[in-house]
This record gives sequence, structure tokens and C-alpha cells, in this order.
Amino acid sequence: MQLGAFTLPNALFVAPMAGVTDRPFRKLCKRLGAGYAVSEMVTSRPDLQDSLKTSRRANHEGEASPIAVQIAGTDAPMMADAARYNIDRGAQIIDINMGCPAKKVCNKWAGSALMQDEALAISIVEAVVAACEPHGVPVTLKMRTGWCAGVRNAPTLALAAEAAGVRMLTVHGRTREQGYKGQAEHDTVAHIKSRVRIPVVANGDIDSPEQAREVLRRTGADAIMVGRAAQGRPWIFREIAHFLATGEHLPPPALQEVRHWLLDHLHDHYDLYGEFTGVRSARKHLGWYAQSLPLPPGAAALFRSRVNAATSIDAQLRCVSESLDEWSSQATTPSRDNWKLAA
Ligand SMILES: Cc1cc2nc3c(=O)[nH]c(=O)nc-3n(C[C@H](O)[C@H](O)[C@H](O)COP(=O)(O)O)c2cc1C
Repeated sequence: MQLGAFTLPNALFVAPMAGVTDRPFRKLCKRLGAGYAVSEMVTSRPDLQDSLKTSRRANHEGEASPIAVQIAGTDAPMMADAARYNIDRGAQIIDINMGCPAKKVCNKWAGSALMQDEALAISIVEAVVAACEPHGVPVTLKMRTGWCAGVRNAPTLALAAEAAGVRMLTVHGRTREQGYKGQAEHDTVAHIKSRVRIPVVANGDIDSPEQAREVLRRTGADAIMVGRAAQGRPWIFREIAHFLATGEHLPPPALQEVRHWLLDHLHDHYDLYGEFTGVRSARKHLGWYAQSLPLPPGAAALFRSRVNAATSIDAQLRCVSESLDEWSSQATTPSRDNWKLAA
């Protein structure tokens, strides 16, 4: 798939998830089969751009191209400045967030709240495209199907965004009103795909190779984007890629292989956050990993309590490597069924 000057290795994308898809996790997902990753949202507010959180998010050292950065905000000139700010720091693609339902974003009329004001939404798109064009940086847009059940205006916005110069659209198959409740629907994505010429990415509740194939078939989308199902299971991308290419399931990874990925993830994580924050913010990832592994009853809870009690890098690493060694010495050959059961 082509996006501006970039040829993406495949059509499997990691969804931007604030607090989850930081640079270490994106790198791991790309290594395990994701063809594209968008960074967590970066604020357009200049007063926050020097905060530690924002500067960590805007640091792309060692990440494979293309570097795609998502921006969020409500003010067109400020969003244009945010695009330029990120381009100066290495962004090669700018993604506009009109998909996030979080209150913190919506109260400020950003994220998916922008879908309620189409004129403002398109003025933001135009300003960001104008800021990116001189740098040859493509602008993409991520949105939901609409504001609420009665206002599913994603198709209207999609056409307007395409006319304004957006080069790719991602659609999460829920309205803003739904938050994460109910089941994502992909018919709106199929409808949008039939009306625009730019690539369309389907997102929402894709959590298995079969589901990925079905969403691609039903929508005709150019790519799919996986969010929550990749938490603690970044190898889902190579599993989906293998299934799409062969129709066969890839055998589940051996626990020793998982141990290797997990330790690499942790080292990268500590490098970015330092010891104090890194040890604490790694806990959620470790909890998700334990949840997705085929462990004996009670093992995941015990593991979580041990890693949560660790307050140094050494202690957390030791706990992780010893646990993985112990589980893999007890494990019979993992089958796809016991992995599914564990998840
Ligand atoms: C913890 C979390 C944080 C998220 N942060 C963002 C974000 O910063 N920007 C965005 O566009 N979407 C964000 N999303 C939405 C996801 O990108 C995605 O659209 C949604 O989770 C549906 O996909 P899934 O069913 O595969 O998880 C977030 C979702 C979660 C669960």
C-alpha cells in the first residue's frame, strides 16, 4: 500500500492508543508484523509542547519509517503549528484525531467531538494540509462513524476531507456516543470506501485473523487497524499476516520466544522513561502479557502482584525472566486452543 512517498510493507496497522502505543510498543509491533503505526496523540497546545510527556511522544529515535504522528486540537492555526512542530521533530505523516471520545479531548471540542461541527473540522483539515504540503508530508484523518446514532456523518466528512487533500482515512466503526460499547459496525466503512478514491482503513473490534479477513472482505478496505487486541499480544500482527497470506494459522509463539520479545520491550521502555516511571508504566503491559499467555490457573494474578511489587529495573526484569523460564519449563507444546482460552 502506498502513502505519499512511502510504500508500506503490509496493510496491518497498529491503532494509536494514548498511554499504550508509545515508541517501544510501536517498535515491537512493527518488528512482529505490523506494517504501520501511528504515534499517540500529541497536543496542539504550545504551552504543553515542552512537557516531558509531549517531548517523549515527539521522540522517534530508532523507529522505522514512516514516522506518523497524530495531532489533536480545536483551533485550525494551532493545529497547523502542531503539524509543523512535529515535522521539525521527524514526523513524516501527520494524522488528525477525530476519533478519540475521551472527555479530556471532547470537552475541549477536539477528537471525535469535532465531527459535530463539520465546518470547523474541515477548516482544521485545510489548515493542516496547507502546513504539511510544502514539506511533502501527507495528512491522514482518523474518525468515527459519526457523532451519534442519528448523525452518522462520516461519509460526508470523508468526501470533504478527501477534497481538502487528506490522503488516507481511518474509520473506527462506532459513533462518538457509543464510546467503546456495543459492537463496531463496518458497513459505514464499506460505504465510505465505495465513495472515496483515497485508501480507507477499517478499525474496531478486530481481534483475530478470521475477523481481520472478514472485515477486509466486507468493507473492501485497503488496510485494517488493530488496537486493544494488540495489548499484551503484539504478535497478533504476524498471526494475521500469515493467515491472510496462507489461510493457515501460524503456531503460537513459544514462551521462550515471548520472553525474548518481552525483555526487549522492557529494555526499550526503561530507556525511554527511566527507572522510576519506566518500572511503574511497564506494569500495565506486563499485566496484559500475562492475560494473553496460556498460563496455569492463578499464575497471571501471582505474576501481576510480583511485577507490581518490584520497584527497580533489576527486580522487574528478574521477575519477568524467572516467571517466563518457570512457565516454559512447565509448558506442554502450546496449542492454538489453549492460547485462545487463556486470552
Ligand atoms: C487506551 C486507549 C487509548 C486510545 N487513544 C487514542 C488516541 O490517542 N487517538 C485515537 O485516534 N484513538 C485512540 N484510541 C482509539 C483506538 O485507536 C481505536 O480506534 C479503538 O480502540 C478501536 O479499535 P480496537 O477495537 O481495535 O481497539 C484509544 C483507544 C484505547 C483503548
